[in-house]
Amino acid sequence: MEFSEVNKNRHAVKSFNGEKINSDLLKEILTEATLAPSAHNIQPWHFVIVASQEKRAALSTVLPVNNAKQHESAGATIVVCSDVDLPERVIELVEIGGEFLAGFTKEALLEKMPLLFESYTESQLANYLALNIGLVAQNILLSANNRTIKTNVILGFDKTGVTEILGLDERYHPELILTLGYSDDEGKASYRLPVDFVTDIV
Ligand SMILES: Cc1cc2nc3c(=O)[nH]c(=O)nc-3n(C[C@H](O)[C@H](O)[C@H](O)COP(=O)(O)O)c2cc1C
Repeated sequence: MEFSEVNKNRHAVKSFNGEKINSDLLKEILTEATLAPSAHNIQPWHFVIVASQEKRAALSTVLPVNNAKQHESAGATIVVCSDVDLPERVIELVEIGGEFLAGFTKEALLEKMPLLFESYTESQLANYLALNIGLVAQNILLSANNRTIKTNVILGFDKTGVTEILGLDERYHPELILTLGYSDDEGKASYRLPVDFVTDIV
């Protein structure tokens, strides 16, 4: 599909036919989505595909009724987490990916980046992570739509409950839940403010 088509016909779909999406396809989507840019190329995301019957049922208990219904009919549910342990992520990047920032040596990265992240206040860190998570999440929606898989984004959930149910390591914070699936419902174009209203040219 042309990008403009993929973008234009992506709409929130909140009811699916229950057909499962296999993990290989989900990983293809996630691989494509992780081409998203991130600050310092730190890639501070972690995905949990909630696949087992047991975990899926438990997840429903910490979602408001309408969001639980979406999740229950979805072919896949992905919890998109941020990684708050950025110093550790630097080490992983250097170990797994080699020199990920052009012009820096591994030693310089390991020395400087953790200090930078440790200097962030709690709200600076939260903002930094949320921005990066938003970018990768949008890519998941578009990548899925390109494969005729419908999606929705869920922010309304009990974060502590999700953390407990999924047994998340404390470094991972659940930020968004994405429901994906097949549906006859195409969704519909929702209103957007005129671009001139939301834009200044200075
Ligand atoms: C950050 C975020 C949080 C959202 N949370 C929910 C939610 O908890 N439940 C829900 O049904 N839809 C949720 N949505 C879906 C929005 O309602 C929907 O994307 C919006 O109305 C625009 O419609 P569109 O996606 O079809 O363009 C959320 C969307 C975003 C981006």
